[in-house]
Amino acid sequence: HNHIDHATPEKVQEAIAGDHTHPVMTDYETFTAYRDAGGYAALEQLRRDGNWEDVQEKILASGLRGLGGAGFPSGKKWGFVRANAGTRYLAVNGDEGEPGTFKDRYYLERSPHLFLEGMLIAAWAVEAEKCFIYMRDEYPVVLEILRREIAALEAAGLAKPGYIDLRRGAGAYICGEESAMIESIEGKRGLPRHRPPYVAQVGIFDKPTLVHNIETLYWVAKICREGPECMSSTEKNGRKGLRSYSVSGRVKAPGVHLLPAGSTITDIIEAAGGMLDGHTFKAYQPGGPSSGLLPASMNDIPLDFDTLQPHGSFIGSAAVVVLSDHDSAKDAALNMLRFFEDESCGQCTPCRKGCEKAVKLMEEETWDEDLLTELCGVMMDASICGLGQAAPNPILLTMKHFTDDIRSVPRSMGYDTEQSLEGGDS
Ligand code: NAI
Ligand code: SF4
Repeated sequence: HNHIDHATPEKVQEAIAGDHTHPVMTDYETFTAYRDAGGYAALEQLRRDGNWEDVQEKILASGLRGLGGAGFPSGKKWGFVRANAGTRYLAVNGDEGEPGTFKDRYYLERSPHLFLEGMLIAAWAVEAEKCFIYMRDEYPVVLEILRREIAALEAAGLAKPGYIDLRRGAGAYICGEESAMIESIEGKRGLPRHRPPYVAQVGIFDKPTLVHNIETLYWVAKICREGPECMSSTEKNGRKGLRSYSVSGRVKAPGVHLLPAGSTITDIIEAAGGMLDGHTFKAYQPGGPSSGLLPASMNDIPLDFDTLQPHGSFIGSAAVVVLSDHDSAKDAALNMLRFFEDESCGQCTPCRKGCEKAVKLMEEETWDEDLLTELCGVMMDASICGLGQAAPNPILLTMKHFTDDIRSVPRSMGYDTEQSLEGGDS
């Protein structure tokens, strides 16, 4: 495997104590360095005499899927957007709000131009009139890097001034939902829209819009430069490709770990240096809070798109949080639902009232499992967007796999947020 990052507890403490008003710039690959290493040659060649369908073919051959979390085949999306006549836009989702996810930040703080070139290639492929980058405002270093490097791109004549519009989010989790993000880009409150129509048909200012996550575009550039094999040639446990797992929790080496898409939690913990001393692996969150918690006994499942659905979960953005015998699944699930309660946009009743009610029920010493099951059913069936539809997952999975935690309450095993953050990177 390719071990990328290593945040020690000392480094995290230093960062917490640091001067947050003056974020420290990372040692990233600048425009000049990227260009000198052959960067933007692929884009220039395509703009000169490329055929967009050939590039689409490459992307499809690579097996690249949407790495924001939904895993929709990226090449297919280009076709959906191109099928609509008139003005088209490209929007990049850099909101990265899923707790435990920090891979986009990781790549942007190191290789911003792989992402920018991938974005310009995708924009060329769908003939986008303008690119909007919706960037998480809590990433000040990334914002500064992008400001500088977009200016360098403009100065070099690779993007017309104003073609790339860098927008800052304002900390709302729901604005990472693509239609809420589009509302926000339009200057409105971030409320998810009903689908269909999909944003590929009716997106920013009602124009067909190609929406991609940061990392997806990073791979678009890599695939164009190195060929589809850079993604498709890795195979493990019957799964093809690579995944950037953001690993945190009770492991020795939290960080972004680029591993085969068929990796199991055992492989991921091993890549992350093993469990912290004095901790026994108990449970894991495979892909953000909406993927819920799975028990340590389910340690042989390849953590990829489609493989967790039969278990009532999903890989999503691959935000893996490892819990140990020091953690309570009940408290972890409650923590997740409190997050959803805070972040629900409030537009629809099953989610707005459902999250609130779920939190109340989960705060009880013993969970009313029948009532919670009924509530989860309503939320899943009747919520407008993924937030309300997936919020029940932590409840249902905790009731299924951690009955000891929810039926008796060993207070001494409370979910220790401070300690679990200590090893994290997000
Ligand atoms: P989705 O499956 O509804 O859509 C995925 C993408 O495919 C969207 O761009 C959608 O427009 C497009 N699409 C789907 N069917 C289409 C069709 N028939 N025609 C045209 N386009 C189509 O999933 P959604 O709600 O966009 O994303 C859910 C995922 O997001 C979850 O897996 C979750 O883990 C992840 N997520 C990631 C976060 C992060 O920080 N990276 C934050 C929150 C959630
Ligand atoms: Fe808003 Fe929740 Fe409804 Fe989504 S499910 S639209 S977040 S209230």
